[in-house]
This record gives sequence, structure tokens and C-alpha cells, in this order.
Amino acid sequence: MSTVEAPAKTRAQIKESTLRKDNWRLYPITTFVIFTAWVVYATVRAFWGAAFYVPEFHYLTPFYSPCLNEICDNVTVNGHTGNAAEFGTFLPAGTRGWIPFAAISLPFLLLFRLTCYYYRKAYYRSFWASPSACAVKEPHGKYTGERRFPLIGQNLHRYFWLAAVLISLINTYDAIRAFHGKDGGFGIGLGTVILVANVVLLWLYTLSCHSCRHIVGGRLKNFSKHPFRYRMWGWVSKINERHGMYALITLGSLVVADAYVALVAGGVFNDPRIFN
Ligand code: FES
Repeated sequence: MSTVEAPAKTRAQIKESTLRKDNWRLYPITTFVIFTAWVVYATVRAFWGAAFYVPEFHYLTPFYSPCLNEICDNVTVNGHTGNAAEFGTFLPAGTRGWIPFAAISLPFLLLFRLTCYYYRKAYYRSFWASPSACAVKEPHGKYTGERRFPLIGQNLHRYFWLAAVLISLINTYDAIRAFHGKDGGFGIGLGTVILVANVVLLWLYTLSCHSCRHIVGGRLKNFSKHPFRYRMWGWVSKINERHGMYALITLGSLVVADAYVALVAGGVFNDPRIFN
């Protein structure tokens, strides 16, 4: 009669760091390069303090929204003057270069992405090698998970999600304002299309969040008694499957939207107009 052995209490002792033969380094290296480049770009732009608004068409880059510096109040570009400060000017002009104009929203957006389940996987693998890939030995002596400071702070993600929803609403308002024509009325330019596309992608990223899925449909004992929440939960679950993709795409769409506004505001080229 055969006997069943009890599972070993310790990890298997394997000398090699991994037995994988595929190119498992590609993901962490690519992620490291993309994230580092993005953080450098975003930091430079956030502190730049110029080329953030096109008054003629009301184009405001998402990196400066809401724009809270006194400078946002009276922006002149290509002979047009406008007001990018829709929510007050709490920051004196002298803080330019030291404090980002969007000083309230940027920290929350950073914390929202930093605690996102997708980004956690990505930077744990690519920056901390914890581990670099599945079935690859990690260099750290012991594993403590996210039970202690500072990683226990990852649990605050659901609250940063609420802040991200508010900021997405402000970005939506900015995109609606971008339907502004040369004659002062309704108009559409390439900038409008880019800002609207960016906002749609930001909503897809924000609403496909795992915390959003739980807030919408979690802790329910009986779906049949909550048909509306069940329907919303089904919809969020569907886009949740592609959450990682939206997380990456929005990194690109934010850079495209910001760079476009910066180039038009800097006078590098004129905004191609579709209507007015
Ligand atoms: Fe990624 Fe919430 S899990 S934003």
C-alpha cells in the first residue's frame, strides 16, 4: 500500500536562481525603462511652470489641472490671454519652479498609481526584484508581504481611488472646455480630440480598478436583490480584465496630451482645426 508524504515545511532547496529557460528578464527590464522615463518626464513637466495652457482654445494639460498658481490666472500665449485657474489660486507666483501648479491633485494621483494592484506587480518585479518573475529566486532573505510599514499603506488604495474619481471629473471638465473655437464659440481642434481621448482612457483606467469593482459589487450577499449594482459590477468586471493595459496606455496618453499642449503653447506649431 502506498503512503502519502506530508508536504515539506520549507521551500525546495534549489541552487539555481531559476530553472526557467525563456526570456523572463524582458518584462522587468522593459518596465523599469518605461517607468523611469515616465517619472523623469512627469517630474520635469510638473515643475516646469510654463507651456501648460493654450488660452485661444482652452487647452489645459492634465499635469497642471487644477491649476492653482497665481500665474494660471492670466496666461498669454500667441497674443491671446485666458484664465486657466478655475478652482482658485492658492499658490503665490513665487512658488513657481518649487511647487507644481497642480500641487493638490498630483500627490493623490501619484499615490493612486503607486498603490494600484497592477503597478505594484510591475514595480515589485522591475525595481525591487521581489521577485523579478514567477519561479525566479528573489535576492531578499525573507518575505514580509504588505503587513508592515510602509507597505501596509498599500491598503489605502481604495481612498486614493475616491480622490482619483474627483480628479477625473476635473479632467472631464477641462476636456469639455477644450471644445472652444477661434471665434469664442464652439470649436474642435486636434487638441480637443487628444484631450477627450485622454479623459476617456483615464476613466477606463479609474473605473476598471479592483477597488472600484469591490465598491460597486462587493459585500453583497445576494445579487438578485441588487440588480443595479449587479449590472454595474458586471460592467466593471468586464473592463477590469484589461486594467493593466489601461494602466500602461494612460501613461502614454497623459504624455501625449501634455506634450501636445506644451508644443502648441510654446508656439512650435498651430493646432489643426476641425471646426472653427
Ligand atoms: Fe489599479 Fe485600483 S487596482 S487603480
